Formats: sequence, structure tokens, C-alpha cells
Amino acid sequence: MAAMKNIPLILMGCGGVGRQLLQHIVSCRSLHAKLGIHLRVVGVCDSKSLVVASDVLSKELNDNFLSEVCRVKVDGSSLLTLGGLGECQVFKNSELKEKVIGVASVMGKSTGLAVVDCSASSETVGVLTRVVDLGCCIVLANKKPLTSTMEDYYKLVSHPRRIRHESTVGAGLPVISSLNRILLSGDPIHRIIGSLSGTLGYVMSEVEDGKPLSQVVRAAKSLGYTEPDPRDDLSGMDVARKALILARLLGKQINMDNIRIESLYPEEMGPNVMSVEDFLSTGILLLDNDIQERVRKASLNGNVLRYVCMIEGSRCEVGIQELPKNSALGRLRGSDNVLEIFSRCYSEQPLVIQGAGAGNDTTAAGVLADILDIQDLFP
Ligand SMILES: NC(=O)c1ccc[n+]([C@@H]2O[C@H](COP(=O)([O-])OP(=O)(O)OC[C@H]3O[C@@H](n4cnc5c(N)ncnc54)[C@H](OP(=O)(O)O)[C@@H]3O)[C@@H](O)[C@H]2O)c1
Ligand SMILES: *[C@@H]1O[C@H](CO)[C@@H](O)[C@H](O)[C@H]1NC(C)=O
Repeated sequence: MAAMKNIPLILMGCGGVGRQLLQHIVSCRSLHAKLGIHLRVVGVCDSKSLVVASDVLSKELNDNFLSEVCRVKVDGSSLLTLGGLGECQVFKNSELKEKVIGVASVMGKSTGLAVVDCSASSETVGVLTRVVDLGCCIVLANKKPLTSTMEDYYKLVSHPRRIRHESTVGAGLPVISSLNRILLSGDPIHRIIGSLSGTLGYVMSEVEDGKPLSQVVRAAKSLGYTEPDPRDDLSGMDVARKALILARLLGKQINMDNIRIESLYPEEMGPNVMSVEDFLSTGILLLDNDIQERVRKASLNGNVLRYVCMIEGSRCEVGIQELPKNSALGRLRGSDNVLEIFSRCYSEQPLVIQGAGAGNDTTAAGVLADILDIQDLFP
């Protein structure tokens, strides 16, 4: 049999998604071996420290070590405690950036290296832009680097074959790859409209059934569907980041400021004014009637309300829209994501992508598929 192809990688971020990715990598060992591929994890970091294989060109953090990494992180301990296990070097925060760049400059143009961002930080963009220049590939679940300045964005995508970020929009759903295929075939995309927040999808379909917003949001929180502060979902900021990534993919040179964002709560109920408890017990009650009234008006027109991201011409908006009941978005129930794409080839009926758009498992699976997708760039 031919020699195994090695794909060396460094993982940044070891939270829900990062740990699930490590587990997927380990449990896919025999599948990947059959394909002649070995994923060689040479480094893992969190916000405070970095562990790196003792010799990045020939060694790796083995599977036992990776499960130790996950165990330590679940326990809430520091990666520094892994220093005693040998076969690895540990670095603390102050050295982290330079060390990753150092490894990238050794490996980028020899063995190749994939730098995988499963953090939720806006600080990784500096490292990512550098390592791309050093010949490395980057794979992102983290939206923030792609929603920083246009200048950073251009740097990140300067070698389109070296970047994958499928999981930044719709988790494991093939949103980015589908759009890229349409764009590469010269089929002009006129309009994209989608429900890209599982939380807001759930909220909007529940209020459609006549339940008060306050009750629905509290239920969503106790089901674990929302962020600890549900206003992080209700503000629409996360959807706006996804909208910006899609708009930039379509070639629009815009920033967050150019996106019209409708927040489901007013400024005077913001996190700087009101505690989460006050918001959920009193503030949000004041929003029930207005939403109920909008739902009723829409239904008189045979329509439903959805919280969507819409990109059309120079418009890029995030907020509530009235949509036909019998469209893919109108039929949406629960927390699935749905994206409708209208182009020349898909003009009457849109191309529709639908399915779970969140979760550690599907998100990490999307990241893993991205890594496998760039295998041809490794010697
Ligand atoms: N979960 C989902 O359903 C989903 C879906 C789509 C996309 N995503 C995206 O996937 C990413 C990861 O999500 P998650 O749920 O796994 O987040 P999480 O549990 O909060 O984990 C974030 C991890 O990133 C680390 N980190 C923070 N700043 C860092 C830095 N400067 N350098 C390196 N690592 C850093 C954190 O370190 P500490 O452990 O030291 O705090 C933590 O380990 C996020 O960007 C999220 O938006 C998630
Ligand atoms: C994702 O992982 C985090 C951290 O382990 C956990 O708290 C969260 O419940 C997980 N989310 C899902 C949907 O499984």
C-alpha cells in the first residue's frame, strides 16, 4: 500500500466544538486510514496555554494524550497540567501567538499545516493572517476573524484553496460549499434569504402558534437552546455575523456597520441596563403584545413571521420579515436552519438547504470534513 498522507494540524480552542473535533478525529482513525490519510495533531491551545508535540516535524500528540486534553478541559483545569506527560512542550499565553507562528513557519512549506480555529475569539485573526502567508491552510468554525475588517478578510481569503469555513454558517450544513459551487459556475446569485439561528427559528415558530414571546424565550432558555443571556440571541448579532460572511462571499465589500440589524429587545432593556433575571421576569413581558400583533397581521395576509438574514442587491438585512406560509422558510418549524438561494439556475424555485444548524457534534463534523477537503494540498 502507498505511504500514508499526513495532515498535520494545530487546534485553537478546546471548548464544546474543539473537544468534539478531537473525539471525531480519534474515532475516524480507521476510516481515514482506509483512505490513506492520517490526521496528525501537533498542537492544541485554549485562551491561556498551548501544548505542542516535542518534535512537530515527526511526532504528534497521540490519541491518549488527546483524551487527556479533553478530560483536563472538561474538569476546568489548565492545559499546563499536561506538561508532566512528556512528549510535549507547554507554553503560556504570552508565548502562544509567536509559538504557533513559529511552528507554522517550520511546517507551512514543508509538511504543510492546517491551523483550525474552534475558538470564539476575535483575537485569533492576527495568527490566522500570518500563517496563511507562511503557506498553511486555515479551517474555521469561528466567525469573528471573517467579520473583522475588509483588510483582514482579504488576507484570510487571499489563497482561496487554503481556507475552509463551512461551519461558520449553518454548522455542518453545506452552505458555503454550495454557494461557492454556484458562484464558480458563473450563475449569478440574486438573493439569499435564510433562518440561520436555531434559537430564533424556534422562537418565531412558537410565537406563530400563539404563545407569548416571554414564555417562549424562558422555555427556550430552560431547554438549553439559548445563550446563558438570551439577549445574545435576541440581539441578532450572531445572525448578522453570518450575514456578513455570506455577503462577503458574494463579493460585497461591506462591514458590520452596513448591515441593518433588528434587535428583538429595545436598548433600554440591554445588558448594561438590566440584569438577565430582570429582563426575563419583567422586561420581556412588555414585548409580548407587539409581537403578538405582528403575528396576527401577518396571518391575515396568509403569511408568517421569520427572523431572517436577507441579502439582495446592495441590501443586507437581519430581522423579522413576513413570508409566505408555503415557502421553505414559511414551513420551517423548530430549530432547524433553512437557507433559500435564488440565482439564474434557481430562479422560480430556490435551492433550499435545511437541517440542524448548531450543536457541537454537527459543527465539529463540518470542521472535520473541511480538513479532509484540503487533503490534496498536503505532500
Ligand atoms: N456550538 C455550536 O453549535 C456552534 C455552531 C457553529 C459555530 N460555532 C462556533 O464555533 C466556535 C467554538 O464554539 P464553542 O461552542 O466550542 O465555544 P466554547 O465552548 O466557548 O469554546 C471556546 C474555546 O476557545 C478558546 N479560546 C478563547 N480565546 C482563545 C484564543 N485567543 N486562542 C485560542 N483559543 C481561545 C477557549 O479557551 P478557554 O477554554 O481557556 O476559555 C475555549 O476553549 C465559536 O466561534 C462558535 O461561534 C459553534
Ligand atoms: C456543547 O458542549 C458544551 C461544553 O461541553 C456543553 O456545555 C453543551 O451543552 C454542548 N452543546 C450541545 C448542544 O450538546
